[in-house]
Amino acid sequence: MVAAAQIGVLAACVVLFVPMGMAGWHLSRNKMLFFSGVLFITLAICIHIAPYFPAASHFLISSLTPSSSSSPPFRPSSCLSFLHDVSFLPPVSPSSFDWLPNRSRSADCDFQKLSRSDAGELLNGSWIVVSGDSQARLFVLALLRLLLDRSSVEVVEGDLFRRHSDYHIMISEYAVKLDFVWSPYESNITSVIQQFHDSIRLPEVLIFGSGLWHMLHTNNASDYSEALASVRRSAASMFYPSSSGLPSQPPHMFWLGMPTLVNSMLNTEEKKKKMSRKVWEAYEQEVHGSGLFMQSGGHFLLLDIGSLSWNCGEQCTIDGMHYKSIVYEAALHVMFNALLIESQQKI
Ligand SMILES: *[C@@H]1O[C@H](CO)[C@@H](O)[C@H](O)[C@H]1NC(C)=O
Ligand SMILES: *[C@@H]1O[C@H](CO)[C@@H](O)[C@H](O)[C@H]1NC(C)=O
Ligand SMILES: *[C@@H]1O[C@H](CO)[C@@H](O)[C@H](O)[C@H]1NC(C)=O
Ligand SMILES: *[C@@H]1O[C@H](CO)[C@@H](O)[C@H](O)[C@H]1NC(C)=O
Repeated sequence: MVAAAQIGVLAACVVLFVPMGMAGWHLSRNKMLFFSGVLFITLAICIHIAPYFPAASHFLISSLTPSSSSSPPFRPSSCLSFLHDVSFLPPVSPSSFDWLPNRSRSADCDFQKLSRSDAGELLNGSWIVVSGDSQARLFVLALLRLLLDRSSVEVVEGDLFRRHSDYHIMISEYAVKLDFVWSPYESNITSVIQQFHDSIRLPEVLIFGSGLWHMLHTNNASDYSEALASVRRSAASMFYPSSSGLPSQPPHMFWLGMPTLVNSMLNTEEKKKKMSRKVWEAYEQEVHGSGLFMQSGGHFLLLDIGSLSWNCGEQCTIDGMHYKSIVYEAALHVMFNALLIESQQKI
């Protein structure tokens, strides 16, 4: 904006003073008006076509604005709403799926794809609890893929994918304690939260998410809404002083949203019938109206698997419900960036 105004003032000066200078060479008033007109039109054309030559306009603008400073960016909490703005790259080969953060719409909101050591440093010494369905399990796997080396991941994959079981690991390199508690239903999540009510230490990071099992087996959005309300109430009580009287830092809490369902790819007739687009939308609406999220007075931030999986598209799923690891990896980095932003607000 400032740059555009500066260019405008510069152009006005040229149009005004060049012909006046020429008047000093004893040109007639008509000739002066003619030059002034020609200059005005030329500059007007240049300014209007400049945007079509990105390099040129970049040069024009950057030469007038101070070069950006190299100090580490402070990102306001408004950046949280841009974190899901990522692109999934079309695969060149079946194994070449990848994703990238989009160029940030606001210059202050640069998204960081964290390296293994940066993530380790961020999570260093923390206790992370993930409680939910298979989507949450895939999220845990994305975290382990980042923090462990390849051979260790192969070992844990077997344990982690024993159906319907819990999983615990201590990653000694970063002193990270990670618990996955298999919780297909919201009531299971509520019980997990209740176990923390009187504990002395709370996890630093809590990630919850369920809905698909309820959709398939109960298939009633208003009942789901009530189940979410009890998760919300239970989670809120972690933010009151504990009855033991010991002060403890409330955890960072994330809600892992439901994936976009590709109905034609679901693998049973029952799923195709019960998990329709219409029912999915009704369930989504309950999540957004649940009061779980900070915008509506709750304590959770949404990790929006729904929009990430929709963005990745049908090429990223084989059963219309579980997506390729890049979707959960992107969600993981959304969480890291949210944690970075939240920690900056406290300083
Ligand atoms: C990110 O960029 C891609 C390609 O430019 C676009 O298709 C996608 O919608 C963007 N993502 C979001 C969440 O805006
Ligand atoms: C983790 O934190 C401890 C104590 O603050 C520190 O000594 C250690 O170097 C850190 N490790 C990593 C990998 O950052
Ligand atoms: C989850 O909740 C359901 C229904 O409330 C219950 O039947 C089941 O045993 C619970 N599962 C776990 C793993 O706690
Ligand atoms: C759906 O759940 C609500 C709340 O639990 C209940 O009142 C209602 O009867 C249920 N509807 C059906 C069709 O079962």
